[in-house]
Amino acid sequence: MIKVKKRKILLLPGDGIGPEVIAEVKKIINWFNDKKSLDFEIDQELVGGCSYDKHGTPITDEVFYKALESEVIMLGAVGGPKWDGLEFSKKPERALLKLRKELKLFANLRPAICFEQLVGASTLKPEVVSGLDIMIVRELTGGIYFGEPRGIKPIENGERKGINTHTYTTSEITRVARVAFDLARKRSNRVTSCEKSNVMEAGQLWKEEVQELHDKEYKDVELSHMLADNCAMQLLRYPKQFDVIVTDNLFGDMLSDQASMLTGSLGLLPSASLGAKNKDGEMRAMYEPIHGSAPDIAGKGLANPIASILSFAMALRYSLDLDKEADILEKAVQDVLNDGLRTKDIMSDGMKETSTSAMGDAIISKLQ
Ligand code: IPM
Ligand code: MG
Repeated sequence: MIKVKKRKILLLPGDGIGPEVIAEVKKIINWFNDKKSLDFEIDQELVGGCSYDKHGTPITDEVFYKALESEVIMLGAVGGPKWDGLEFSKKPERALLKLRKELKLFANLRPAICFEQLVGASTLKPEVVSGLDIMIVRELTGGIYFGEPRGIKPIENGERKGINTHTYTTSEITRVARVAFDLARKRSNRVTSCEKSNVMEAGQLWKEEVQELHDKEYKDVELSHMLADNCAMQLLRYPKQFDVIVTDNLFGDMLSDQASMLTGSLGLLPSASLGAKNKDGEMRAMYEPIHGSAPDIAGKGLANPIASILSFAMALRYSLDLDKEADILEKAVQDVLNDGLRTKDIMSDGMKETSTSAMGDAIISKLQ
């Protein structure tokens, strides 16, 4: 059993814009080490397509074991068209899915917050999104992403059949629902659980188990159930009705992408993937921006590092018990936005366009 080492941070920049945005996170971590005498130990490794290019695999055993013993993993992004043709097991995304599954990071927290400074950047009307603050809790290690049997097999008539299996067990559902209820208690105390109980047995089980857990342990939290397709529609119609949304792996993937666009600023949204606490109170966790590797803008200094930097703020809060430091960092990001600094993705009239590294530097100067 590999032990988690306290305060050990593993940087996995990955592909595309990953290295650029994680470089800014590294500056921030170093700032905390120097100025706040925090003793984070940083290590950095290849994962995704860049690992495949060098080692022929999206994640080596060595990197995987380092991940296992790190208290915090900061991931950039993986993938890109360069690796599209690879066989399934070699694809960059497999590294990400292996880390999630093997590290048992079952609860994926994806906040969709509309920054007041960027209300105009949403494709929705300002009054619909202003003040928006949703937390999507996506189940991350089960469901159709991992269910067996799976594969592509030949069948009669020269046809082929693609197979994936959607399964959930009671404990898989309740442990993620518990995370959602606990979060709701610290927020507006409302949980919406989404599934397709009208067509899927696993969805029906999801609904029943969430309700049962609620009735046993979380009666004080307001729980409602919603079909996932209706949730997609309600997110556009009246997103502010939601506080915490809890849903399965696949619906969570889709609904979180949709929710993030309400905010108009994909480049600003962080995420956390959390495991269970062991008896010593230790927890494995991986933090990453919601956005992808954006190969089209990679290496040009155009990427927005804020989502990654805010992911580190989540790490300070959820893994490292440093709420005050998380507050300071989030405040620094707000200050920079208030000053009118914008990377290209969130640029608008009258604002000052800055590069990836200038944005990181500006945030650090606000920390001072
Ligand atoms: C996400 C991504 C991943 C997923 C991909 C890159 C495997 O879309 O984190 O939302 O589907 O989970
Ligand atoms: Mg996704």
